[in-house]
Amino acid sequence: MSSIADASLVGGLTLSNPLCLAPLAGVTSAPMREFFSRLGAALTHTEMVSCAGLVRANRKTSNMLEVLAGEGPVVLQLFGGDADAMARGAEVALEHNRRRGDPAFAGLGINMACPMPKVTRRGAGAALMQNASEAFEMTRRLKRLGLPVWVKIRRASEGGEEDTILFVEGLIEAGADNVCIHGRTAAQRYEGRADREIVAKAARCFPGKIAASGDVRTPEDVREYLDAGCVVVMLARGALANPWLFPESLRALGFAVSEELLDPSPELRGAELCRLGERARELCGARQAVVLLKRLMGGILKGMNGAAELRRRAGCATDLEELLEVFRLGMASES
Ligand SMILES: Cc1cc2nc3c(=O)[nH]c(=O)nc-3n(C[C@H](O)[C@H](O)[C@H](O)COP(=O)(O)O)c2cc1C
Repeated sequence: MSSIADASLVGGLTLSNPLCLAPLAGVTSAPMREFFSRLGAALTHTEMVSCAGLVRANRKTSNMLEVLAGEGPVVLQLFGGDADAMARGAEVALEHNRRRGDPAFAGLGINMACPMPKVTRRGAGAALMQNASEAFEMTRRLKRLGLPVWVKIRRASEGGEEDTILFVEGLIEAGADNVCIHGRTAAQRYEGRADREIVAKAARCFPGKIAASGDVRTPEDVREYLDAGCVVVMLARGALANPWLFPESLRALGFAVSEELLDPSPELRGAELCRLGERARELCGARQAVVLLKRLMGGILKGMNGAAELRRRAGCATDLEELLEVFRLGMASES
């Protein structure tokens, strides 16, 4: 049995469906979130925003806070090593968002999953799973700010299942509205198989509270996590490889999806890529637009006439115009 019927109120948020775009540092900036919302993501996350950077009023950090009018719900994903900095950073971000008059964040996210040394060295990301009292305190402090709190963790590296379940329990007692479990340990980083059993066990122990992440590449993967009792499934690398995994999965779950989204023609895929590129240039500048397009183009060019050559040429492109020209060429070769 799946949890679709309960998907409307999830983790303190009203969501149109149970599929969310996972937090992806360096990827989930505003134009990318807008793109995936259009394809059906019920919720997206900001990039990883440093609380220390927010407190120092670092401009690059503040730029990550932009939320566009018309985007779906966006969770502000924060990272930091101590509860004080986390709470102060969150306050700065919310104030910045209010002053700009941007749409409000739907929730506050805490990253307790990032395994990268530059993050864990500061006691942040996955290092918080070794420092439960601080992790629970930062959850309590963010909860006081009045927004739903979503925490993302990994499978605990030592002690197996029991440690993961106890950690989730502590987070929920501290006020977390939703806990997303990526079923790999921090030591695994992004390699090897994600453990679905620990995610399923947590979903049984904490009904209505668990989101799933790890190896979501097909509609069947989505269905498996939902059938295990998860209320949300986060699409990550699977969606970068095939953005249409959102509509395909939604249709498989019985949601209404337009035919055009289900079997997009190569022309439509190319046109979407160009549209994303133009929007990213407008919002983030041409250099960042190139970076974002290169993240997605493999999956989007797949199936076009001469895809291998298009990919090669796109890979060599150094500026946005050159890259868009390759996509236009691909679209022209289809017509
Ligand atoms: C490029 C990239 C950036 C990521 N950035 C974040 C991040 O900022 N915060 C986070 O919690 N997880 C991050 N992750 C992890 C993903 O959200 C997800 O949990 C992970 O990729 C497992 O899902 P998958 O096997 O379906 O890709 C990132 C993963 C990738 C590939």
